[in-house]
Amino acid sequence: MEYRFPEGFVWGAATAALQVEGALDADGRGPSVWDVFCREHPERIFGGVTPAVACDHYHRFAEDVRLMKEFGLTGYRLSIAWPRLFPTGDGPLNEAGAAFYHRLFDALTAAGIEPHVTLFHWDLPQALAERGGWENPATVAAFVAYAQTCFRLFGDRVRRWATFNEPSWMILNGWLTGLHPPAWRDPAAAVRVSTAVLGAHARAVRAFREGGHLGAIGIVLNLSPVYPATERPEDATAAQRADGILNRWFRRPVLHGSFPEDIWALYEDCRIAPALTPDDRQALAEARPDFLGVNYYYPHHAVADAAETSFHLNITGDRREDCVFALAGLFRFVKNPTGRYTDWGWEIYPEGLYDLLKNINEERPDLPLFVTENGIGLADRVVDGRVDDQARIAFVREHLQAVHRAIAAGVPVRGYFLWSLLDNFSWLNGYRKRYGLFFVDRLTLRRIPKASAFWYREVARANGF
Ligand code: BG6
Repeated sequence: MEYRFPEGFVWGAATAALQVEGALDADGRGPSVWDVFCREHPERIFGGVTPAVACDHYHRFAEDVRLMKEFGLTGYRLSIAWPRLFPTGDGPLNEAGAAFYHRLFDALTAAGIEPHVTLFHWDLPQALAERGGWENPATVAAFVAYAQTCFRLFGDRVRRWATFNEPSWMILNGWLTGLHPPAWRDPAAAVRVSTAVLGAHARAVRAFREGGHLGAIGIVLNLSPVYPATERPEDATAAQRADGILNRWFRRPVLHGSFPEDIWALYEDCRIAPALTPDDRQALAEARPDFLGVNYYYPHHAVADAAETSFHLNITGDRREDCVFALAGLFRFVKNPTGRYTDWGWEIYPEGLYDLLKNINEERPDLPLFVTENGIGLADRVVDGRVDDQARIAFVREHLQAVHRAIAAGVPVRGYFLWSLLDNFSWLNGYRKRYGLFFVDRLTLRRIPKASAFWYREVARANGF
């Protein structure tokens, strides 16, 4: 075997509540911002679809856990839907919603699959959004209370907690590009929300420690390395800025409890620097994570000449459409002329994952890392009852090779969670962009293992390939 992984390496797959559960009105669940956004703006979602059914995992979780076991997974990353436990975000616990997660964690425990649980994967209770969302300190308090409830209810079976999934991507799209709810384009608000969310993360970590709960707590960050597109010094500066705004602004407070000085100064110049309370600073300084979850899909290549601010995300899977991301006067991302791209315009660059893991390790040498998401969206099709997704196998193999290289270089990477277990509701991309090990038939919701599922099972069993 050429690539043997360390003993106990977690072979997992990941999902998120809103993307797989469906059953949005079942058993007293309250609406989330995404339920409302999809209902009110079908024109913004490919195919005008909604997450109302998704994979119906809410009713089919037992079958899904059986499949995980049969296909050799040792870990499952999922998120809890806050509005299932607290339909309006705070107030009394919805016991029926909690009962679903009791059933799910019992099934995972019985199957010997370790749950890695994210508390917040973007499905903010709508009622909290209507009261000011993350900018209202009451939302932060409600999040901490919700987190404490989860630790108390599920802590006997869950020992791996992540507070937030990808705050950077959520805030970037919610408050800057306007693509995700609440669909604002307001840089000052984006910065305010970023510190509120990071403060909520820190306070949830504090609550976990003060509660004396067993296990580990961390956060999941989306970290796309940013490379200068040319050797021009101005492009190097642009890359550093982009990296600062998108990555370091989130990574530094999480790893070191303080904000990057260059970006703080930039926000001061733009008069959008946030106001932090002494308790914000203290909570962040104390909230050292036990591990970091890294989501990696693609890198960026930056140039300095950005005359205007513009954003475009390819949600059609039409190769002729390019993704656009430019912030006037700061940076613009360009395509890599020699790069390989998916149909949705995301570059395939496994080396980026190696660079990322290495860099984080240099910054925090002993911090255990998990690749909490990595995968490729394809327009998979069933032919003669089978899904032959060789492109996914190649993608995962190359990225696992990068992980293996990082481990060999001394980086403590403890597990890999493929995005995703199931073809699911891919946010703005609707259902056409498929990521699963298991194909989900949209009419019958039948699960069909793809070629990648059989391949991944062998890798998990052999602990390498
Ligand atoms: C990550 C998210 O940003 O990327 C997942 O945590 C998401 O929820 C995944 O599905 C892939 O992105 P997309 O938009 O192609 O579904």
